[in-house]
Amino acid sequence: MTDQTDAKKDAPIPDPRSPLAHRHILLGVSGGIAAYKSPWLVRRLRDAGAEVQVVTTRGAEHFVTATTLQAVSGRPVRSDLWDPAAEAAMGHIELARWADLLLIAPATADLLARLAAGRADDLLTTLRLATRAPVLLAPAMNVAMWEHPATRRNIAQLAADGCHIAEPDQGPMACGEFGPGRMPEPEALVALAARTLSGAAARGPLRGRRILITAGPTREAIDPVRYISNHSSGKQGYALAAAARDAGAEVVLVSGPVALPAPPGVAVVAVTSAEDMHRAVQQRVADCDVYIGVAAVADYRPATAADRKLKKQPDRAGTMTLTLVENPDIVAAVAAREPRPLVVGFAAETHDALAHAREKRQRKGMDLIVVNDVSEADIGFGSDDNRVHLIWEGGERALEKTGKDAVSRIIIDQIAELLARR
Ligand code: PMT
Repeated sequence: MTDQTDAKKDAPIPDPRSPLAHRHILLGVSGGIAAYKSPWLVRRLRDAGAEVQVVTTRGAEHFVTATTLQAVSGRPVRSDLWDPAAEAAMGHIELARWADLLLIAPATADLLARLAAGRADDLLTTLRLATRAPVLLAPAMNVAMWEHPATRRNIAQLAADGCHIAEPDQGPMACGEFGPGRMPEPEALVALAARTLSGAAARGPLRGRRILITAGPTREAIDPVRYISNHSSGKQGYALAAAARDAGAEVVLVSGPVALPAPPGVAVVAVTSAEDMHRAVQQRVADCDVYIGVAAVADYRPATAADRKLKKQPDRAGTMTLTLVENPDIVAAVAAREPRPLVVGFAAETHDALAHAREKRQRKGMDLIVVNDVSEADIGFGSDDNRVHLIWEGGERALEKTGKDAVSRIIIDQIAELLARR
């Protein structure tokens, strides 16, 4: 059996310029003969850099095996809303939040009818209602079924509900008839998936906005081989950059040293120290609508960085003293500008988190602060999940612990709301 860790290990290295690189595609497969193309579709999506989680209906299992789909996707196939083990690993709401796109291919006449009626009687239909990601349907069926008024009604309803429809191809069909109803080839569906994702961004709540984000740690040199830093991995800042891009913003990410690939479609400026980060921000912030400081910036740096490696000093009785000087406060400097962008900061706290964050928001002049209590296990520094609390003038919101992607989408919605009020 392949687990999700293996899936990541076996994943092809995506071309960072691919619009599907690192995007999360939930691929629904329902029970039509075109499901024989689904393993190939999974391969093509993964070749384009996407991560693919397959969800099948009961009917799909008659046409394509879970073993095949698991082998090509690198992830166990999900099919059952009531599977306690699968739900414990990633609950269906979490799965719905994980998705950047729900692609259902093939979508049979029966599935279209259930989707059009808004049913949630199996995992796939439930995910469609639970996800906020765009939905792309690739209907495939016999030509008479495709042309039937009931199917036409269902398609019209689904389009009115905001689903994107991949028009079926014309041609000879497995049933011996000729006409429209064939599922488009996997390559065409991959191209449509990319177009659907960029189209969703073009209609997003931050379309036309410019956003500057900082992420990761800073490194403050002691000498040529040593530095002071912290545990920030950059995951939260990179996830926010991707969420802002998906909401239609033009994003510049000023990043300290991290081991993450640049999110496709985001301009990354690599920096090392707090002073570098401060300069990079000052050079770019004037024409921004929003500044988001996610970076864990070192408050202090060594007063001087030695130009040669420091040697042990045996005469000092086992101690060594470093003199530190204060770094510029990057977010406070942005907030002090006139005119200024909407200013969002983060607070990493270990105790009295809310009280400290409320005070920090006021002191640094932030419009919104996002606080995480980094003393909690499995959130904050380095983790894939976070539990945050949002505080702005006149409002607060506590979020459940969830993936940094999902946290970021909610923060972006809050930012869009605050921008709209300005
Ligand atoms: O990168 P990950 O591993 O995903 O971890 C995410 C995170 C824990 C780093 C992130 O969620 C977070 O909390 N980032 C802020 C960390 C931090 O430095 O908090 P702070 O309370 O020390 O700083 C408050 C704010 O001031 C932050 O927006 C920070 O960017 C900013 N700051 C701090 C010092 C300074 N000299 N200049 C600043 O702009």
